[in-house]
Order: sequence, then C-alpha cells, then structure tokens
Amino acid sequence: VIITQGKYIASAVQVEQYPEDKMKEIVFMGRSNVGKSSLINSLTRVKGLARVSGNPGKTQTINFYELGAKLEDREDRIDFYLVDLPGYGYAKTGQENRKRWAKFIDEYLLKSQQLQFVCQLIDSRHAPMPSDVDMFNWLVKHNLPVLVIATKADKLGKNALQKNLAVIRKSLGVPDLAVLPYSAVKSEGRSELLDVIGDVLVQ
Ligand code: GTP
Ligand code: MG
Repeated sequence: VIITQGKYIASAVQVEQYPEDKMKEIVFMGRSNVGKSSLINSLTRVKGLARVSGNPGKTQTINFYELGAKLEDREDRIDFYLVDLPGYGYAKTGQENRKRWAKFIDEYLLKSQQLQFVCQLIDSRHAPMPSDVDMFNWLVKHNLPVLVIATKADKLGKNALQKNLAVIRKSLGVPDLAVLPYSAVKSEGRSELLDVIGDVLVQ
C-alpha cells in the first residue's frame, strides 16, 4: 500500500461535526502521550499533520484525517479516514472532563458504521496501565476489532522489547495476542500496519 495523500478534514465532539463524506475509518486510541499523533504523521509522511506535543492531553477532539491509498493490484485510489482520539487516563483533565470525554468518544466508537478497527497504542517501555486494560476489555466487550500497537519501540533494545511485548499480552489476558511494535521515529511497523489497512480497504 502506498499512501498518496494525507489531509486534515474535521474535528468533532458531537455527531453533527463528523465529516459528511462516509468512508472507512481506522481509529487510534491510547493514553495521553503514547504517540498517537506521531504515528499518524509517520504513516502519512506528512509532517505536522497531527499536532505532536511533549505535554500530555494535546488532542482534545475526535480528529479526522483523509488519506488516499494506492493498492498494488488496483488502478484506482481508495480514500479513507484515520481518526485520532484524545488520550485517556490523563489525570489533569479532572473528573468532569473525563466524563465528557468518555461520553463523546463512546458515542463515536459505538455508533460509527464505517469503523474498521481500533489501533490501541500502548507504550512498549511499560506494562499496560489499568486504564489500558480497562479500555482493551471495553473494546472487546463491544465487539470492536482491536489491533494493539506497542509504541516508541526505538527506545528499547531487541530483547527488552520482546520481553515487554510478552508482558503486554499477559496483562491484557491474551497470551497469543498479535502486538505490533511501532516506531514513529524509525518508521518501524509502518509497512505492516499499512498491510492491515490495505486488507480492510479492499473488503
Ligand atoms: P496526546 O495527543 O496528548 O494524547 O498525545 P499523543 O498520544 O498524540 O502523543 P504524541 O504523538 O503527541 O507524542 C508524545 C511524545 O512522544 C512526543 O514528545 C513525541 O515526540 C514522542 N514520541 C511519539 N512517538 C515516538 C516514537 O516512536 N519514538 C520516540 N522516541 N518518541 C516518540
Ligand atoms: Mg495527540
């Protein structure tokens, strides 16, 4: 799969603000600062498309990016959305904010007819936090297909990475779960993720 374009389309906190054009959606979620926006930029190769920040809580809305994909054995281009969600488990947002967050994100995740799968990003350097485990279980409970991605893989050596991938699988309660290591810095995992996206685009 070759990505031919990436552009920002819309930000939403309610249904009326979702883009009017309906296309397949691939969603990115994870704790604040885990690297969601960086992954979107590395996937599209458009620098600064999604805002990256050292301060957790940068992304506060559901952000839609339109991408074009050129598949090997097809002439036409297939357009789809990458959807960047606000991080969860961000302490500073406070109780009231968290409730609001949960509501508009839940609404999106449960009602979208175009959602293909959710990429749940977990920091490869640490064991999943309780909020990661809760979110994973919530997605599974609601029959949303999940691809777990272990981010910032460049920060670990090979052996440490393998060890932590096993910890992630075990903590999520699925010992044989496929976890995709990803580095936005080195573009590691990019072609594997594009293959998965390509598969759902031709379905
Ligand atoms: P929120 O929008 O606040 O929820 O954060 P986010 O999940 O979108 O994270 P973001 O992409 O803004 O990245 C957070 C920090 O991690 C930034 O300082 C990035 O430069 C850094 N980062 C993200 N991905 C990688 C990676 O693959 N490797 C390394 N070394 N750093 C990364
Ligand atoms: Mg972000």
